[in-house]
Amino acid sequence: MWASSYRFLAEIPFVAPIASKEAGQIDLLWWFLNAVSLVMTVVIFAGVIGFAFKYRKKPGVDPVPVHGSNVLEITWSIIPFLVMLIMFWWGAQLFYTSQNPPKEAEEIFVVGKQWMWKLQYPDGNRGMNELNVPVGKAVKLTMASEDVIHSFSIPALRVRHDVVPGHYDALWFRATVPGKYRIFCTEYCGDRHSQMIGYLNVRNQDDYNNWASGGSTGTLAEQGQALFTQNGCSTCHLLNEQGRCPILKGLYNKPVLLNDGRTVIADDAYLRESILQPNAKIVSGFEANIMPNFQGQLSEENVIQLIAYIKSLASTAPPSQTGTNPPAGTGVPPAIRKPKTILKEQAPIAAVRAPQQ
Ligand code: CUA
Repeated sequence: MWASSYRFLAEIPFVAPIASKEAGQIDLLWWFLNAVSLVMTVVIFAGVIGFAFKYRKKPGVDPVPVHGSNVLEITWSIIPFLVMLIMFWWGAQLFYTSQNPPKEAEEIFVVGKQWMWKLQYPDGNRGMNELNVPVGKAVKLTMASEDVIHSFSIPALRVRHDVVPGHYDALWFRATVPGKYRIFCTEYCGDRHSQMIGYLNVRNQDDYNNWASGGSTGTLAEQGQALFTQNGCSTCHLLNEQGRCPILKGLYNKPVLLNDGRTVIADDAYLRESILQPNAKIVSGFEANIMPNFQGQLSEENVIQLIAYIKSLASTAPPSQTGTNPPAGTGVPPAIRKPKTILKEQAPIAAVRAPQQ
């Protein structure tokens, strides 16, 4: 196990437990930086004190002027430069890893709110202040705030990220040592900031499956589908044919042409903005002010559910980028989840839409 090879670092007093390989690597770099600082401090102070003593004023002795030494100057420039390069390369590598979650990472959603962490799992489970993850699996946290800036921190994994209202923030980790670890909010967010704490449970796979199988009401995508219907989204965003609003099937993570000529990627941030402030970006070929603002109508948790639903609509059908009707015959792409439900709500919608155009 990777993390175990770094566990000696966790034996040092006052150091938080180490629950992932990356945490061990970050600690190693941190100790390296400290060691270099310590060595440089000792060398510089020893030089200052030593030379002060050596070149002190002596009665009857005239000081000899010193005119420098090229060898010395080049040496003390090049050696620190190389040490700095090591720091840069090492740090950049760790930073790159920390910013790029593996493709297979399971996505868990975190919503920060004064003063709690609300959690949503893809299988529909929800939780409060207690994050459950399987051991050895990559987990990506997509995080939003409902009010002020928070900061999500798991010291045992050496991960932390600000959670800023108005958009999504992300971090990822792969916990390799089962156990229970602290979660903190590390950004002052109000008078009970210090109580905005939680736990990370790193569970063995069996234990995790047991936990996950208890009490969920449909997957996250299914919860989103219910909201999609309840909020009337399905009356304009028709699934299998062009309605008044863009087709959502196959949209996720695809480029979208906007009416100002820009092309954006339909990622989580775009979908969130388009749900809450539909007029911020208008898809080419569509009009503004058709879709109501859902800002204030939907909680961050609802938005996450809706996005999960839109993601689940991934299919082979090309996304509608231009607002023109798709060619006949492409109406029902094969990979629809829950086809029964979709077909059931499809019939009345098409009937309602017909007179509008
Ligand atoms: Cu949330 Cu401090």
